[in-house]
Amino acid sequence: MSAFVSTNYPQAVQQLHTILDWIRFAASEFDGNQVYFGHGTDNAWDEATLLVTASIHMPFNLTDTQQQCRLIEGERVLIAQRIEQRITQRIPVAYIINQAQFCGLPFYVDERVLVPRSPLAEIIMNRVSPWMDGKEPNRILDLCCGSGCIGIASLKAFPGAQLDLADLSMDALDVADINIQNYALYEQVAAIHSDLFENLQGPYDLILSNPPYVDLEDLSDMPDEYHHEPAMGLGSGNDGLDITRKILANALDYLAPEGVLVVEVGNSWIHLEAAFPEVPFHWVEFENGGDGVFVFTCEQLQQHIHHFRV
Ligand SMILES: C[S@@+](CC[C@H](N)C(=O)[O-])C[C@H]1O[C@@H](n2cnc3c(N)ncnc32)[C@H](O)[C@@H]1O
Repeated sequence: MSAFVSTNYPQAVQQLHTILDWIRFAASEFDGNQVYFGHGTDNAWDEATLLVTASIHMPFNLTDTQQQCRLIEGERVLIAQRIEQRITQRIPVAYIINQAQFCGLPFYVDERVLVPRSPLAEIIMNRVSPWMDGKEPNRILDLCCGSGCIGIASLKAFPGAQLDLADLSMDALDVADINIQNYALYEQVAAIHSDLFENLQGPYDLILSNPPYVDLEDLSDMPDEYHHEPAMGLGSGNDGLDITRKILANALDYLAPEGVLVVEVGNSWIHLEAAFPEVPFHWVEFENGGDGVFVFTCEQLQQHIHHFRV
């Protein structure tokens, strides 16, 4: 590993001048120090571009001319400090710049919430087709909302809906509130402190949920970057399904007759199939990558509910 902090840092501030210089340097340092990518980007160049451009309040996609612009010393010092933070503390870039993109929209994030990265983005951008069948939901629930990214993004697809954001973590709800304010959605969105459905009132036409679902084995293998995320956003019992089992047992009571339930379980889809072999889960196929998301219409859930309520 290179010793970035002790040797290269002061040298870099003196010798690197353009935006492109800094992107190149950051990318080399990220690769050289083997940082893990998985919180918004999947390679060193994009991660470096994100860190550098966000630090100087510029868009991610710069023109060649913009990339040749020189930075003043204060900007260079800030970027160098942030590269150092990323490498030595393994902090995901989203937390350093307090921003993450989801469905092409910016969301405020910090270490009180997970960094948004759910494949539900693709389902939302496709207006939950074909399951919503072109219908406009009146009421949407984002269960286990974290930053509120899934629910708030769903309002871009269904602008006439009312949205409830629910989470058990007051810290997460404080972050969700920042995003409600940032999008001026206070009249359309309620942030509700709730242990799953406990404080909620159905019926909902659409329930979207990315609950904690990492199983114990995956939890123990996670790179350092994930340890900056709130633990209650990740783990959910031995097979990762403690929360999902409760959602499956109770969602029916909160779904409208034409309602749709969409839940992400990631790698734990294998455990779900094994736990309920008689249930034909419909797993969404993604064009942009990702897996482990199932969908039930209210009618389908009704059909199989006896398996989930034992
Ligand atoms: C995987 S994170 C997802 C956050 C957000 N939906 C996203 O996609 O970025 C799961 C969230 O579930 C919340 N959570 C955990 N247990 C919960 C429970 N029993 N009831 C409600 N929310 C819960 C956590 O606080 C965390 O914010």
